[in-house]
Amino acid sequence: MRLDIFLSKQAAYSRKSVLQLISQRQIRVDGVTIDDRCHPVTNFSLIEISGKQVTHSQPARYFMLNKPAGYLSATIDKQHPVALELLEGIEHSGLHIAGRLDRATTGLLIITDDGKWSRKLTEPKQKIPKTYLVETAYALSPDTPQRFTEGIYFGYEEMTTSPAEIELLDETTARLTIYEGRYHQVKRMFAAVGNRVVNLHRESMGEISLDVNLKLGEFRVLTTQEIDSLG
Ligand code: URA
Repeated sequence: MRLDIFLSKQAAYSRKSVLQLISQRQIRVDGVTIDDRCHPVTNFSLIEISGKQVTHSQPARYFMLNKPAGYLSATIDKQHPVALELLEGIEHSGLHIAGRLDRATTGLLIITDDGKWSRKLTEPKQKIPKTYLVETAYALSPDTPQRFTEGIYFGYEEMTTSPAEIELLDETTARLTIYEGRYHQVKRMFAAVGNRVVNLHRESMGEISLDVNLKLGEFRVLTTQEIDSLG
């Protein structure tokens, strides 16, 4: 792999900073000062920057968990069980949750140690669709789809939600797709139309759908295709 690509992936150096370091003659590979950012390197190359050895990070890790109710979307908590506890046999250090779910919410929870990747999945400006199965306390009113398409105003954030799609499945059940992931967004949207969410289950985020073979509390690693789907 090219030196600048390798350093940006493995050690979070921007390509620009690699160029600067090269022009300052600060990068050595296997003891030789490098003057070409395309210099080929492998995992076995000894790379030094300003005389210090670059330690190669482990490859990033990506998991999907079918989150059961009762688990906090957190890495650690004194009072309640946390979702990360369910990743049995997996070293937890560096892992975080990409798009939290409320304690009672079930379904797709993505856990990774790749911060750049998880931001692509969760930042509202990325507009990644997130689909939920929603059960409500009261019958869904016929104007709900239109209200959600128009967007719901959130006073706290002073913003209007992006047009959401809702498919009414029966009197009190719907499939909702939203394009941000604001705090308690689904519950707040239904509250705004005079309803109340009693059950919430996340089915998908972008092109990553909850694996139907995962029982509640089970997890698996993401496939390369799922990881690459974020582009
Ligand atoms: N919106 C909510 O209100 N709760 C969740 O857990 C996820 C989205």
